[in-house]
Amino acid sequence: MKILIIGGGGREHTLCWKLSQNPKVKKIFCAPGNAGTAELGENVPIDAEDIPALLKFAKKEQIYLTIVGPEAPLVNGIVDEFEKANLRIFGPKKAAAMLEGSKAFCKEIMISAGVPTAEYVEITSLKQVDSVLKKFDKAAVKADGLAAGKGVLLCNSKEEIKKALQKILRDKAFGSAGNKVVVEEMLAGEEASILGFCDGKNVKIMVSSQDHKRALDDDEGLNTGGMGAYSPAPVVNGLEERIQKEIMQPMVDEMQKRGTPYKGILYAGLMINNSEIKVIEFNARFGDPECQCVLPRMKTDLVDVIEACIDGTLDKIDLQWKKESACCVVLASGGYPGDYKKEEVIVGLENAKSFDNVLVFHAGTKSQDGKVVTNGGRVLGIVGLGSDIKGAIDAAYLGVSQINFNRMHFRTDIGKRALDR
Ligand code: AMP
Ligand code: GLY
Repeated sequence: MKILIIGGGGREHTLCWKLSQNPKVKKIFCAPGNAGTAELGENVPIDAEDIPALLKFAKKEQIYLTIVGPEAPLVNGIVDEFEKANLRIFGPKKAAAMLEGSKAFCKEIMISAGVPTAEYVEITSLKQVDSVLKKFDKAAVKADGLAAGKGVLLCNSKEEIKKALQKILRDKAFGSAGNKVVVEEMLAGEEASILGFCDGKNVKIMVSSQDHKRALDDDEGLNTGGMGAYSPAPVVNGLEERIQKEIMQPMVDEMQKRGTPYKGILYAGLMINNSEIKVIEFNARFGDPECQCVLPRMKTDLVDVIEACIDGTLDKIDLQWKKESACCVVLASGGYPGDYKKEEVIVGLENAKSFDNVLVFHAGTKSQDGKVVTNGGRVLGIVGLGSDIKGAIDAAYLGVSQINFNRMHFRTDIGKRALDR
């Protein structure tokens, strides 16, 4: 079996690692991949968003199964194009991926499905600002379309809301992604992520996880793609069944009812406040770095689950999980999420990997002259496994202590919230 993974981050290296455990998998290609995926398979120098080139490659290589990591190709219809060419691919079609591609669409589906979420209004013109300010004193102001994770502005006063709306609607800070804006009530609580496998009718949720979005310790600094994660997230304990029944299944039912069944990974970003659960957003893919913590805990074969999702037979799968906890610490380039330098030599990878309870997942790395060098903002995800969260955190930081590169930056408090509980 030949598999093509699209993307080149930590999530995609983790997918490569998990899929390569199936003996039927003879070869994995990763486009464009990183230095980690190159160790498990072959990198293909095609951009993750170049759908025609990916399609041509999959046909030429007779790829049996393609798995899409990032959101942009999904929202741009890669699954539709591959299916038209009779190629097997895992992910939602364009119409279903719009749950991530348009925040306004996602809100509309949530409301129809009766899924709990923040109060909101949708606006397209600065003429509507006064009506927004009447409704909200604080708000999360969101560009409707994809904005590489940067399209959300959290505003703590009417003045800030007004400035945010001007930035998006007048100054076009997020280009056409901001032609429409969703303004939401500010939610309080603790965030967690629940990912689900979906086959169009059924959804099976994975173990919970929690991301760390801010760049610096104690949730200070700028928002990033994610500086670390752990699984399970104690804040979710005991709420799993409600999340399945009140959030995930109603979304899948609503999408099926509309004739746009959801197949793929459905990622719910949740805000939990005591026993109140509200959805902040849905994504159409695995979270990164949540994936790095969740997949190492999965006992069931990933190829089998993905095939069941594609074939609509997920109800036949018994998803099994390991009891152990996982913690992922992201090592980033100095300056990230702002400007940073590339091609810094990374040392200590072999030492970190030599521990039984440490996994090293590459993100922004590449091979150069026989060395592994940095090639992005988020460079590595070091995952520790342990019988409890404390053990997992200790293992992760033991791995981290082995690795170095010029201006390496990481958070020292990943998992602290779970420990505090
Ligand atoms: P999103 O891109 O929708 O995940 O938003 C990015 C981050 O902004 C989320 O992870 C939350 O930390 C925060 N956020 C988004 N919406 C809200 C909200 N309604 N209330 C509070 N925080 C929010
Ligand atoms: N870790 C957040 C995301 O993948 O969107």
